[in-house]
Amino acid sequence: MGHDKQPFQHLFDLSNDHRAAHGETCHVYPSPQAGQWAALAAVFSVERVLEIGCGLGYQAVCIAEAAAGCRVETIENDSEHADLAAAQISLLGFADRIKIIRGDAESIMPNLKGPYDLVIEDAGVDYSR
Ligand SMILES: C[S@@+](CC[C@H](N)C(=O)[O-])C[C@H]1O[C@@H](n2cnc3c(N)ncnc32)[C@H](O)[C@@H]1O
Repeated sequence: MGHDKQPFQHLFDLSNDHRAAHGETCHVYPSPQAGQWAALAAVFSVERVLEIGCGLGYQAVCIAEAAAGCRVETIENDSEHADLAAAQISLLGFADRIKIIRGDAESIMPNLKGPYDLVIEDAGVDYSR
């Protein structure tokens, strides 16, 4: 990736704009690894993904787009992020395959029923470091 346009560039930009507007406490960094996870999910025909840290939904959308039969569950504890992600996911037509689980990952994860084919930890990651 890097030199090419990101897939879903508008959502990538929206995520960065949101973080810029909210300052240091906001960690919505659209995942620079989204393309690689999406390619991997497609190649291995992954059916069920768990993402920890939905942000505005960028990586979840990339994966769902690339892997046609894949369902993504993504955990988000910031209600504003979850609302914005839900709107984008719906707008882009992925509401039937991407489920946002609202709340803190630490308390949610023990109650999830696997198995998942792929689990991606992306909560609170500051890619600027
Ligand atoms: C790096 S961003 C996620 C970026 C997203 N995966 C993407 O590619 O656009 C991290 C997100 O994790 C959320 N988060 C941080 N700690 C969390 C926790 N304990 N449980 C759930 N979500 C959390 C933050 O609110 C933020 O939206």
